[in-house]
Amino acid sequence: MGINIRGRSFLTLLDFSKEEIEYLLELSKEFKRMKYCGTDHSYLKGKNIVLLFEKTSTRTRCAFEVAGHDLGMGVTFLDSKSSQMGKKESLADTAKVLGRMFDGIEYRGYKQSVVEDLAKYSGVPVWNGLTDDFHPTQMLADILTVEEEFGKVQGRKLTFFGDARNNVANSLMVICAKLGMNFCACAPKELWPKQELIDKCQAVAKDSGAILTFTEDPNEGAKGADVLYTDIWVSMGEPEELWAERIRLLKPYQVDQEKMDLAKPEAIFMHCLPSFHDRETDIGEEIYEKFGLSSMEVTDKVFLGPKARQFREAENRMHTIKAVMYATLK
Ligand code: CP
Ligand code: NVA
Repeated sequence: MGINIRGRSFLTLLDFSKEEIEYLLELSKEFKRMKYCGTDHSYLKGKNIVLLFEKTSTRTRCAFEVAGHDLGMGVTFLDSKSSQMGKKESLADTAKVLGRMFDGIEYRGYKQSVVEDLAKYSGVPVWNGLTDDFHPTQMLADILTVEEEFGKVQGRKLTFFGDARNNVANSLMVICAKLGMNFCACAPKELWPKQELIDKCQAVAKDSGAILTFTEDPNEGAKGADVLYTDIWVSMGEPEELWAERIRLLKPYQVDQEKMDLAKPEAIFMHCLPSFHDRETDIGEEIYEKFGLSSMEVTDKVFLGPKARQFREAENRMHTIKAVMYATLK
């Protein structure tokens, strides 16, 4: 029987089977091929989508906008400053209005419950463009990037270094568990994923054969890894005061050349971006002045080195988001 996810929302990968995720990855490859060949794929002409952003974004917003246009759709962007959402109009009322005008809704914001409520009240497919808990569209781009490098991901080891209870780390653990890829969270214990999510993923991993491990030892995390993955140490929405504590906790987990050398010879470096790998940003410079660090979660050498795949990964956001919108709206 064919896979059909038409009409479904894309809120967390926990809701999708291995086969459904693989279908979205195959579709992404097809869309990437069409984009490269210049083949028209405006299959969703006449449809309209709205992008709601309560947090800032470069990749996710641009990926949804370009993917929407390529599919032939009308795209409207709304941020919390320019719409009534939240301040003058409840989420439920906003969702009911948007569901009457648009065929699909993307949401980036804070609580996972908000994206779930949007789906509940709007009656149209809703796509999670990042919440405090999950970042599922990022995951499809990440796995597509790993597959382009190594072929199938089953049995490969991906180690996440850093705040392993953030949205990206949570989602990596879920997708690895689903697809049978080995996942290692390498972080101080207080930053390991929540036990409730670990338990859910362990249950999924039983079926897929994925091995999920958790370690405080950076060398153990790096040894034998196929993918060394990291993300910023303080996520959007977290208080600035956290920087000092996170720097203290996470400095030993910075992805540097030593860790790359401990990994498999063919290992790659990945990062969802944006990244603090130099002093070329306001925050990067501020951190340097306060703490004397010129790079944080990854050294500039690794970020600019031959193993780094973060920009291919960023491009893949567009192809994979296109696949999600097509499959749920077609
Ligand atoms: N990786 C990612 O989601 O990037 P943006 O915050 O720029 O969308
Ligand atoms: N964990 C990061 C991911 C950014 C794409 C954040 O939430 O800010």
